[in-house]
Amino acid sequence: MMRKSFNIDDKISSRLKNLEEYVFFEVAKAKEEAILSGKDVIDLGGGNPDLPPHPRIIEALKKEADDLENHRHPIYEGLPELKKAIGLWFGRRFGVSVDPESEILILIGSKEGLSHVNLAFIDRGDEVLIPNPAYPPYRRSVILAGGKVLDMPLLRRNSWRPDFEELQREDLSKAKLLFLNYPNNPTGALADEGFFEKAVDFAEENELVICHDMAYSEITFDGNRAVSMLQVPGARERTLEFHSFSKTYGMTGWRLGFVVGGRELIKVLRNVEVTVNSGAFHVLQKAAMAALSLPDEAIGEVRQTYQERRDILVNGLRELGWELESPKGGIFVWAKIPYEYDSKTMARLLIDKTGIVTTPGVGLGSQGEGYLRFSLIVDNDRLNEAVGKMKMHLE
Ligand SMILES: Cc1ncc(COP(=O)(O)O)c(C=O)c1O
Repeated sequence: MMRKSFNIDDKISSRLKNLEEYVFFEVAKAKEEAILSGKDVIDLGGGNPDLPPHPRIIEALKKEADDLENHRHPIYEGLPELKKAIGLWFGRRFGVSVDPESEILILIGSKEGLSHVNLAFIDRGDEVLIPNPAYPPYRRSVILAGGKVLDMPLLRRNSWRPDFEELQREDLSKAKLLFLNYPNNPTGALADEGFFEKAVDFAEENELVICHDMAYSEITFDGNRAVSMLQVPGARERTLEFHSFSKTYGMTGWRLGFVVGGRELIKVLRNVEVTVNSGAFHVLQKAAMAALSLPDEAIGEVRQTYQERRDILVNGLRELGWELESPKGGIFVWAKIPYEYDSKTMARLLIDKTGIVTTPGVGLGSQGEGYLRFSLIVDNDRLNEAVGKMKMHLE
């Protein structure tokens, strides 16, 4: 029997059709092709840290895997003992006390929470303020939820922070959410409490929920420490702050994060979470408690490692005439391209000539055009090699 042909294009939602190719797919494809063509590839493209979890975390993981009770269906909103440990950590780290039961929700990686928050709050036509450039899932999940993105340019002259006075001149009547991210991916900028106070004032004025992404909260350099939005008095009731075990502890593959914020907001997000997820594996949640109890020196070593890498790359690029600021946090170097190439052409040229994979800035937003993002995810020797190759082939 002949079946009628099936046209999938007619079936795909217009929301999905509105999405461009995910930049990190393109980066991974370019890397794959370079490997297949026999190149010695140095991957500075993605955000996948190479540093493994501390041995104490792995030990806890093994031990918890042996407890068969841990293999049963997880508790939806997260294990009370992990939430309690997070509450204590939050108090120690930021001097802010949070109620573990009502103000914390465990996530399967912070990415899913940052995406699902749009399903919780956005109706068709609602608007969301998104930094440009930024981690692409913010923008994409607004579009998937049927919302509209309002760009907030991050400019060097504004220390890579949105200009709230400028934004206040726009029609923000349909805006519901304000996304911020410090330590910032990709620019490496930090924010201080003064800026966060302005953000809370702006959110209050325009009746916005603040979604603050702190995935890189512990990775800061030169003695700087990142501050939490919740340190601003009165911020809590309108803030959801997303944290991750991925970067600080090298637990990217575990898919574990959490969100801290006002209890009403947490309740709303939990309602989406229980619909699309069924909680995080208890083995991981229990082992994550070992991460939170690591001595400060262990995290200090992580910071030191990324700082050394930063210095190698920043100095190398500067010697080559690239114009850039040394990042204050995060795991990226955001560099203005000193040639007449756009960012996709430059990224391609770099792979072809040197085997170095980077992320073209335009993939992180229109304001990223003219920039490349280098990830600090290989060791010092390999980074020195990368700098050497650029010196040899680009000068
Ligand atoms: C700014 C930012 N937020 C969130 C994430 C996602 O982290 P997680 O592994 O917790 O989902 C990343 C990962 O690259 C990131 O760069």
